[in-house]
Amino acid sequence: MPADRSSFADHLLAWYDRHARALPWRVSPQDRAQGLTPDPYRVWLSEIMLQQTTVAAVKSYFARFTECWPGVADLAAAAQPEVLGAWAGLGYYARARNLHACAIRVSEEFGGAFPSTAAELRTLPGIGDYTSAAIAAIAFDEPAAVVDGNVERVVTRLFAIETPLPQARKDIRLRTAELTPQQRPGDFAQAMMDLGATICTPTRPGCIVCPVRPMCQASAEARPEQFPVKKPKAAIPDRKGAAFVATRPSDGAVWLRRRTAPGMLQGMSEPPLTDWSAKADGATGPAAAPFKADWRFCGTVSHGFTHFRLELEVYRAATANDPPAEGWWCTPQARAAEALPTLMQKVLVRAEASDPAADETPRRRQSR
Ligand code: ADE
Repeated sequence: MPADRSSFADHLLAWYDRHARALPWRVSPQDRAQGLTPDPYRVWLSEIMLQQTTVAAVKSYFARFTECWPGVADLAAAAQPEVLGAWAGLGYYARARNLHACAIRVSEEFGGAFPSTAAELRTLPGIGDYTSAAIAAIAFDEPAAVVDGNVERVVTRLFAIETPLPQARKDIRLRTAELTPQQRPGDFAQAMMDLGATICTPTRPGCIVCPVRPMCQASAEARPEQFPVKKPKAAIPDRKGAAFVATRPSDGAVWLRRRTAPGMLQGMSEPPLTDWSAKADGATGPAAAPFKADWRFCGTVSHGFTHFRLELEVYRAATANDPPAEGWWCTPQARAAEALPTLMQKVLVRAEASDPAADETPRRRQSR
């Protein structure tokens, strides 16, 4: 158990001064000590990207976004499909819509300067309790309690909190608030995250090199891996549906449309799909196609969403004419800039890997 607030923070910050990860959105503790301050735009962008996503997955997206849109006004001026296109593959696409909406609000209502308190930041699209606290602490040095998954693990171990998640969250927040120092709260928050990511890991934590081990109850009891205690997860349902990939033989373009209905993947591009959701299956089979064509079955793809698994039958048909449906032809050259979520990319790859011509050539099919 931590002896007291300042000694815990002192030990952790001394460790951070030597071991802080070099991250593209971060100002190192040494540079901060020289008076350099983090750019709130970069802090905000990284925190939105890092929600539900690992540092390794975020780095290339962060580089692309900051190259295309170096400041909040640049992002606000972008068209939404461009932003969704740059986000494609990162998942949880509501984040990208909110990101763009937030950039517009900051530009139009705050004169392009992010508000500096957690309370004001929380009023902006896509910014909740965690993100507002993280931005306020890291960019503006507000001593806010910053609690992400890594911090939950560290704190439940420090205090050997037996209450399972998510019920323990309030207690974790209070304890984090008590540990957070008035000086260097932004570095403290990032130090807690780094400790969780590099030493206080979910399995095989490195207690032997942990800077706060003398203050850790779970380590003293030799059972850090038993924390955080988690309520058993409910089984996630399997959903079904079908995808229909129309291709134009002259140039290999595929027919896409925009998902306009509010809900999952709104604003993103897709080949025509049947109407699955987290709660209900969509239609399957070639008869469910949105227009008539010579649909050939290409196999299935599956994809895990947070609350369900989806298995899509994939059909493909070559068609020289524009389909009688809303949409556009996307050429192979235009594909990279298209707002295609990972699921849709899997569908297109599945359709393209299965050459309908091969169906008529048994010898070729056998040789695969
Ligand atoms: N995860 C979320 N935000 C982070 C940050 N600022 N540094 C390291 N890991 C993080």
